[in-house]
Amino acid sequence: MNNRICDVLDIEKPIIQGPMAWISTAPLAAAVSNAGGLGVLGVGFAPLDFVKQQIMQTRQLTDKPFAINTIMIPENLEAITEVIREMLPPVIYADSLQGLKSDLCSKYFSLWHSFDCKVIVKASCIEDAINAEQGGADIIIVKGWEGGGHVTFEATTVLVPQAVDQLHVPVVAAGGIADGRGMAAAIALGAEGVEMGTVFMAASEASIHLNVKESVIKAGDMSTIITGYSTDEPCRQIKNKLADEMTEIEALNTKAVAAEKLRPVAESSLKKAMMDGDMEMGAVMVGQIVPLITSIKPVKEIIDGVIRETKERLEIISKYKFN
Ligand SMILES: Cc1cc2nc3c(=O)[nH]c(=O)nc-3n(C[C@H](O)[C@H](O)[C@H](O)COP(=O)(O)O)c2cc1C
Repeated sequence: MNNRICDVLDIEKPIIQGPMAWISTAPLAAAVSNAGGLGVLGVGFAPLDFVKQQIMQTRQLTDKPFAINTIMIPENLEAITEVIREMLPPVIYADSLQGLKSDLCSKYFSLWHSFDCKVIVKASCIEDAINAEQGGADIIIVKGWEGGGHVTFEATTVLVPQAVDQLHVPVVAAGGIADGRGMAAAIALGAEGVEMGTVFMAASEASIHLNVKESVIKAGDMSTIITGYSTDEPCRQIKNKLADEMTEIEALNTKAVAAEKLRPVAESSLKKAMMDGDMEMGAVMVGQIVPLITSIKPVKEIIDGVIRETKERLEIISKYKFN
């Protein structure tokens, strides 16, 4: 049986590298595409010149399909559509904040399709996933709250089977997957592929500060926390001084005041961690699966290992006998 993710994206392995601002720049995205998965440039909030430069650099490093990340907010979409028209990246990966509308999707997805680009949407709930499909998305990722970065309120094991039951396009599972056991579980739930983010932070090709890679390798279970629950901007990161300060602001203030006070604290905090290596006041966003990541490895080794282990697991599972 063909894998529809591979068919639609013209890739060999149904593994998507989740876009990560400051982390999934051209070297990492190209390495993932070269290893047979889909590399995604984490340029959702980046200036347009940087997006163009990253697309050009990725093309120098790989001749395989790759994606650019954009955010489904109306103010964003006219300008990025001009970049897409000019640069023709093979795949557009649209991240959505909760409340995605199908008419917004239809308007832009039909334009992007007219440039021959495929469209992936990452949805944070089933209603948004359905709206994205109605709007013409080719593939839908549902991401559970185990994942790193901005998260949702439901687990991957809860979202994936619902998405599979209600959608016709292929579903990708994201959040809490870092090895072949996770990928086999996602397939058992009905997903046709996986997206992984945190595991690629420790890839040799990820050009981030070594402090971050060391902290990913050292982190155990219970080492992450979600900040921004009370202000509707939930984000999973490693517990540190920044996370403590954010949690305290949320505990002591009303929603509106907390949102106001959090803004300067959170601003540029991801960059502070990833580029400057500030492990105290930087936002070290990672997913709950971080304890499984114990060494720095090249992307190809990560991807080949996940695929090999997935096949082994599925074979073992197929032999289980039940009465
Ligand atoms: C450090 C970090 C930064 C992220 N930045 C983005 C981003 O800019 N855009 C986006 O769509 N998702 C972002 N994500 C989410 C990932 O693309 C992906 O959905 C998530 O990492 C999957 O869960 P996992 O971490 O359990 O593998 C980020 C995740 C991390 C860990």
